Amino acid sequence: DGKYTVTLIEGDGIGPEIAQSVKDIYSAANVPIKWESVDVTPRLKDGKTVIPDEAIESVNRNYVALKGPLATPVGKGHVSLNLTLRRTFNLFANVRPCKSIEGFKTPYDNVDTVLIRENTEGEYSGIEHVVVDGVVQSIKLITREASERVLRFAFQHAEAIGRKKVRAVHKATIMKMSDGLFLSTARDVAKEFPHIEFDAELLDNTCLKMVTDPLPYNDKVLVMPNLYGDILSDMCAGLIGGLGLTPSGNIGDECSIFEAVHGSAPDIAGKQLANPTALLLSSIMMLQHMGLNAHATNIQNAIFKTIAEGKSITGDLGGKAKTFEYADAVIKNLK
Ligand code: IPM
Ligand code: MN
Repeated sequence: DGKYTVTLIEGDGIGPEIAQSVKDIYSAANVPIKWESVDVTPRLKDGKTVIPDEAIESVNRNYVALKGPLATPVGKGHVSLNLTLRRTFNLFANVRPCKSIEGFKTPYDNVDTVLIRENTEGEYSGIEHVVVDGVVQSIKLITREASERVLRFAFQHAEAIGRKKVRAVHKATIMKMSDGLFLSTARDVAKEFPHIEFDAELLDNTCLKMVTDPLPYNDKVLVMPNLYGDILSDMCAGLIGGLGLTPSGNIGDECSIFEAVHGSAPDIAGKQLANPTALLLSSIMMLQHMGLNAHATNIQNAIFKTIAEGKSITGDLGGKAKTFEYADAVIKNLK
């Protein structure tokens, strides 16, 4: 029927409500996408907790998925499903842009940062053990292979979005070996892209400079190991109004999963109070990834217009609108 099938992982808590907004807006905008909803609730298989095969097959078949928030337990319990998905599909690069939304006032104007986070290893490798009682080790695993892959991706992404500078963010002064390997790999990969300027910056310094004045970061692509990217991307989100407004894309060679960075917000779930913008903007990254650029632009403009009008925005943005009222307003603003 000329439609693309996309896997939809609605997620926990507010997930189904914000996914509904995406579905409503997409059908109003006549986007040629058919959603295939899958359940990723872990199941016990041969004594191991795994994602249901149907979900894995769906993503492998469709190559593209949109994902809402999945709750992650603190401390003991299963490994975060979010991480399991990234690992299962080898989604090695996490693209996290943060662009000020016109008409939404924050202390910062015209922020436009692009952060690429290594998405498979580092402190997220999940290798932890008790040495003796009261002493634990968590291994930060850095490999040349995964570093090279994400670094090359960062340079290619810079080319694709027309930026001429790539900056590696690191702490190789302290993490001499792990970040040292990431940094030396970055210098090697940079040689493959002589038309792109490469430099490096210490993470703490990046934070200081960015909250003081983010504008010098608008012409760069930042690339960094996993945990640094997790933390710095939340900080960037803070510059533009919070996690309700920031998209992300987990990119692999075979498939990609686009997801909102925020949590499942169980306290407000089911009350139509959630802001679907982050999932919507993630879906727009997905449309661009699929080459559906006209649809991406149409929906994005309608979102920005709705936020700038300020009448139908959700509580986190200072408004009073319900989730579905915001979605309706976006639909009215479609071309
Ligand atoms: C994110 C989230 C996840 C992470 C959690 C939910 C496992 O904070 O996508 O940034 O730590 O990567
Ligand atoms: Mn995070």
